[in-house]
Amino acid sequence: MKVTAVLLAAGQGTRMRSDLPKVLHAMCGQPMIYYAIQAAQAASTETPVVVVGHGADAVKDFVHDSARLVFQEKQLGTGHAVLQAESLLRGKSDYIIVTCADMPLLRAETLSRLVETQGANPGPITLLTVITRDPRGFGRVVRGADGSVQAIVEEAAATPEQLKIKELNASAYCFSANWLWAALHRIPISKKGEYYLTDTVELAVKAGLPVQALHLDDPLETIGINTRVHLAEAETAMRQRINTAHMLAGVTIIDPQTTYIEAGVTLGRDSILWPNTYLQGGTRIGERCEIGPNSLIRDTVIGNNCVVLASVLEGASLEDDVDVGPFAHLRKGAHLCTGVHMGNFGEVKDSTLGPGTKMGHFSYIGNAAIGANVNIGAGTITCNYDGVRKHPTHIGDDVFIGSDTMLVAPVKLGDRSRTGAGAVVTKNVPEDALVVGMPARAIKKLDKKEDVS
Ligand code: UD1
Ligand code: CA
Repeated sequence: MKVTAVLLAAGQGTRMRSDLPKVLHAMCGQPMIYYAIQAAQAASTETPVVVVGHGADAVKDFVHDSARLVFQEKQLGTGHAVLQAESLLRGKSDYIIVTCADMPLLRAETLSRLVETQGANPGPITLLTVITRDPRGFGRVVRGADGSVQAIVEEAAATPEQLKIKELNASAYCFSANWLWAALHRIPISKKGEYYLTDTVELAVKAGLPVQALHLDDPLETIGINTRVHLAEAETAMRQRINTAHMLAGVTIIDPQTTYIEAGVTLGRDSILWPNTYLQGGTRIGERCEIGPNSLIRDTVIGNNCVVLASVLEGASLEDDVDVGPFAHLRKGAHLCTGVHMGNFGEVKDSTLGPGTKMGHFSYIGNAAIGANVNIGAGTITCNYDGVRKHPTHIGDDVFIGSDTMLVAPVKLGDRSRTGAGAVVTKNVPEDALVVGMPARAIKKLDKKEDVS
């Protein structure tokens, strides 16, 4: 049995008041169409089809090969939109799911239930309905005396009696494919000059074919986004859903209301998230970590048993047992090996800090490879930029950098070397040497056995 989903996304989304196509507006780190495609993929057997119109190129760039695209040149209504997929899908699918790409909270399980219900329906349509106090401009589901679905009436065309109907059309359907393709050509044009997909219901009823309604208990799932107010509502609901899933999987979230985890983030068991924490992009966090309060972590991989307090991490990686913050800034390419301690007011970019290295206070480390068990004194700076180019700094193992040292790159410091406080290092420092001054000059050869810890 072949099931294909058609997602409608050709409308302009005028009420978003935006240059960006509506379905590309982000929610919990992904454009809303991402969620619609995910749910569609899970509930169908074929690659979903997205009907695009306004902003087609931008949508195409995002969708790539996660869906096939068909173009609707003029937005002549939801029925006309589905018709654009006919030549691609006719004869290729037994069931067609139709839903809107601006309903990001609709669950895959709900779409699967639609397909199941339609599988048992002798008629051609199963539609999703919901009962809510706020009609939100949705179409009303008109039922006959026997309780069977007779029609969907759009709000603009509804009589005062029909407006009182509480059962609404959520805009998710499963159709028997052959019947659908024929019916779409028979939809009458509306007063507004559009072809409404919802009019297929009356076509079925007139032909004596039963229409099934699957009733949804959770009205949140049917939030369709028309304005940025709806977008914020949906974001809140999606955030709760994401947080709940992490908590049920063993993550402690002290205050879910102020914890913002994007859709692609993973977290290990027994990690604890303190309030006002943002986990974004492809961030992956291991087990038993403690993150926050007040931290923003984007596209960063963190091992087990790490602590990140009031810090910003972007494009970084931390091995196990690393602690950073408060007020640390890790940027792209910062790699902190096992057991690194990075205290307050430090910045690391495109650099590796070797195992057990400590950087307690006020430092900038850029384009540097730093060995194991190095002590980076307060105020140490890699002067990596000469105004034109970035230059590397190499620091060996067991090096002790005195407070306020300027390391003028390119420069290398050998294993077990030391710099005095305030040194400006412009030349390579051999192993076991102590350098001081400005610019720093060699003053003595260290005895290898001398204790430098
Ligand atoms: C539609 C339903 C309504 C339902 C509501 C739920 C119809 C006629 N009405 O109304 O019963 O309660 O959804 O949200 O279907 N689109 C296209 N091409 C078009 C027109 C629309 O791709 O020519 C897309 C839009 O981008 C949007 C979706 O279809 O994603 C729904 O269109 P919209 O105009 O918002 O329909 P509603 O008036 O909300
Ligand atoms: Ca709508």
